[in-house]
Amino acid sequence: METSRIALPIGTALDRFIKNNQDQFQYTTGELSQLLRDIALASKVVNREINKAGLIDIMGAIGSQNSGGEQQQKLDVLANIRFTRALSKGGEVCALISEETESYVDLNNEGKYVIAIDPLDGSSNIDVNVSIGTIFSIYRRKSKIGQPISEQDILQKGEEQVAAGYILYGSSTMLVYTTGHGVNGFTHEPSLGEYFLSHPDMIIPQDGKIYSINEGLSNSFSPGIKKYLQYCKDQNYTARYIGSLIADFHRNLLKGGIYLYPATSKDSNGKLRLMYECNALAFIVEQAGGKGTNGKERILAIQPTSLHQRTPFYVGSWNMVDKVENF
Ligand code: AHG
Ligand code: MN
Ligand code: MN
Repeated sequence: METSRIALPIGTALDRFIKNNQDQFQYTTGELSQLLRDIALASKVVNREINKAGLIDIMGAIGSQNSGGEQQQKLDVLANIRFTRALSKGGEVCALISEETESYVDLNNEGKYVIAIDPLDGSSNIDVNVSIGTIFSIYRRKSKIGQPISEQDILQKGEEQVAAGYILYGSSTMLVYTTGHGVNGFTHEPSLGEYFLSHPDMIIPQDGKIYSINEGLSNSFSPGIKKYLQYCKDQNYTARYIGSLIADFHRNLLKGGIYLYPATSKDSNGKLRLMYECNALAFIVEQAGGKGTNGKERILAIQPTSLHQRTPFYVGSWNMVDKVENF
């Protein structure tokens, strides 16, 4: 049961914020709170490594491929190790889905939560000192404690997320997350090594003027998307595309805009992954008053059929995403 919510001021430390939120619910055991703290801690470790990227030998490709057949970067693998370690130790998580591992990991414990993670998003930007991120989705375990993890635990719809968030390693490092009661953003203060509330109750503008898409692929887009891109130009919109989903999404969340990764003639489902990229951002954007769709259906309503499935993705300001659906 939820009791009345007290707004906390800017500058509140993440730990206090999490604790305060937990105190507002009766019968909570604090496991979700601990899980969020574990993610925050792992992100600080990853942040530290990213900051040293040019100085130690952690840049470049490692020579292996991930679940999607893409070149793994050293930092992809390192971030995966850091987050996996942090999430396996606490005992709150019973199963882990990661972009960097082919199948899910059953942690064989009594944990109540399942987590899906993109440990490092935008890895092509690592070597060139451009913003990158981490994306996570948290679900409740469905199978009984003591029974092995099954498909029903793993292939859950986005609307079943209990929490989701991202870390943006940018000009400053930020943690943005939701537990289904609005979206809050925290900025990392490096000398104290703590996250502090900097963006309370984030709301995305209903309209915007920014469109973010890899327009170099436009020859292979559907006629509808080509027309929409022409519409953006006719409206004198601004094109902004970093190539790190998290950085593009975060900017549009603050300023108003739309991010598009449509189907292409090569990939009928586009590029982005439903379970550890799109679901988290769709949950966050809806909590902030925006919209996330695959062009036909709400992202959060899609029933996943496989771990690494891809989906076309349109996310951002409500009216802009609505418009794209009409095209
Ligand atoms: P990842 O680094 O986790 O594989 O994700 C890369 C994704 C996403 O971050 C970005 O928006 C998109 O790939 C860029 O794709 P294009 O290079 O095709 O534009
Ligand atoms: Mn990614
Ligand atoms: Mn990744």
